[in-house]
Amino acid sequence: MGNVHVLDHPLIQHKLSYIRDKNTGTKEFRELVDEVAMLMAFEITRNLPLQETTIETPVMETKTKVLAGKKIGLVPILRAGLGMVDGMLKLIPAAKVGHVGLYRDPETLKPVEYYIKLPSDIEERELIVIDPMLATGGSANDAIDSLKKRGAKNIRLMCLIAAPEGVEVIQEQHPDVDIYLAALDEKLDEKAYIVPGLGDAGDRLFGTK
Ligand code: PRP
Ligand code: URA
Repeated sequence: MGNVHVLDHPLIQHKLSYIRDKNTGTKEFRELVDEVAMLMAFEITRNLPLQETTIETPVMETKTKVLAGKKIGLVPILRAGLGMVDGMLKLIPAAKVGHVGLYRDPETLKPVEYYIKLPSDIEERELIVIDPMLATGGSANDAIDSLKKRGAKNIRLMCLIAAPEGVEVIQEQHPDVDIYLAALDEKLDEKAYIVPGLGDAGDRLFGTK
């Protein structure tokens, strides 16, 4: 079963409190999500493999280390996932970015896919699916299904906040996928919003309603 990692770095937790606060306006919300995404990228890349190389400093030749292994691909789920891309790219600037467009039908609460565009070599990449919210898990589950159908083999999921219900769905449907969160919340409400959550991530990021 995929592991759940709650990234409880104090800076992440501090900034997340302001992200959750209903009095935080769009500009500040966007900036904070960007900062938290960057901090989460730092934590999520902690175990990337290294390989030895030789360089010359101004003083002498020496052995040092550089990243080895698989290249990274970021796959934000549109639209709210977009809010986390730039923050991650600050630390992983060479990552390629694919997009999966999904929205949750307000009646059925089921995800509807309306767009997909991925790097051509996804089967060779370590993919990080990004979405601020993992609620029922329907959107992330569908996005991961779509990636696997197209050949993806190494997938991780990164969200700001998850409900236990969503985590369970991903663990059942995709036991190979590790999940990285800034917080694991209490539950879903009757409209499948995360409680206490942060409200509608897309609307808060883009100032829509
Ligand atoms: C939100 C969120 C996730 C999804 C989570 O997107 O960004 O993609 O809901 O819910 P789930 O786990 O129950 O599927 P939304 O459908 O509101 O679309 P948006 O990003 O375009 O606002
Ligand atoms: N999508 C959101 O944006 N927020 C929630 O709480 C649940 C789904």
